[in-house]
Amino acid sequence: MTFRIETAARGRSTIFILSGRIETDAIAELRRLLERQTDYQNIVLDLKDVSLVDRNAMGFLAHFLKNGKTNETYIQMKGTDGVMKLVLGFALISAFCLALLAAAPDEKSPKPQYDAKGNLLRTADYRDWEFLSAGYGMNYTSAPGSHDLFTNVFVQRWAYEEFLKIGKWPEQSMFVIDERDAQSKGSINKKGHFQTDLTGLAVEFKDSARNPRKWAYYGFEPNAKSAETMPKDICWSCHEQHPAVEHTFVQFYPTLQPVAKNFGTYNEAREKLEEVK
Ligand code: HEC
Repeated sequence: MTFRIETAARGRSTIFILSGRIETDAIAELRRLLERQTDYQNIVLDLKDVSLVDRNAMGFLAHFLKNGKTNETYIQMKGTDGVMKLVLGFALISAFCLALLAAAPDEKSPKPQYDAKGNLLRTADYRDWEFLSAGYGMNYTSAPGSHDLFTNVFVQRWAYEEFLKIGKWPEQSMFVIDERDAQSKGSINKKGHFQTDLTGLAVEFKDSARNPRKWAYYGFEPNAKSAETMPKDICWSCHEQHPAVEHTFVQFYPTLQPVAKNFGTYNEAREKLEEVK
């Protein structure tokens, strides 16, 4: 369904009834219409018949609403339940704004999400995040390990971009290691190793407001939907003592190493071979 805007007046309110798919092209038209209004208090956006909103359009709507609110006025939004209510409460409006903001392209999303018990929810799309590096059979003691796994490290793209600008990790940066079994012989392969089944996820993130120790750690079984936080000493201490940048092992991430060195946030001493206590 193509995008349409109809305008209607009801009392002092101007109602913009949007229908169809809102895509990037529709933004210019919407912007012209909304910006012509001087009285935000009396605008109603009726989104009841909107089928799909693309990320740019969401970003625009969210931005518009946010600015409306800081002027201590607001745009009323209507829709979803079919009941013709003209005025929606602030709570609903804010919830709508939050949903829009979460989807806005320039916002810092995704972020860690929790369930009602405070356990971390597994992120579904971490394989679309920025890939930092892969390890194979990495082992931190000289004792032989049981069997060698691949470790693929990912971080949210927005956090990575911020790192490129400032050489350290912004709040809410989140890292996922996707751990996979290794196989050698298969199909036409005779030597070397390739990756197979997921054996678990290790997750780490920086959130000073939530964690007195700033960095939190979680381990997920291959099919787990949520995970409890790890007791401090299992993960935190090694990540406090040995990484080159804050709690992260940038000494093993070849694209970030030169960035951190440039910003002077890189601890060179952490490259030295040492025994983990
Ligand atoms: C003995 C030291 C040590 C301990 C203990 C440890 N890690 Fe790590 N961790 C590392 C090293 C080394 C790397 C980088 C190597 C890699 O890519 O696998 C790393 C990388 C990570 C990363 C990727 C981001 C980063 O910090 O570089 C995550 C996520 C992570 N570990 C989570 C955990 C979790 C969860 C635990 C506890 C269950 C844990 N780690 C325990 C040494 C440790």
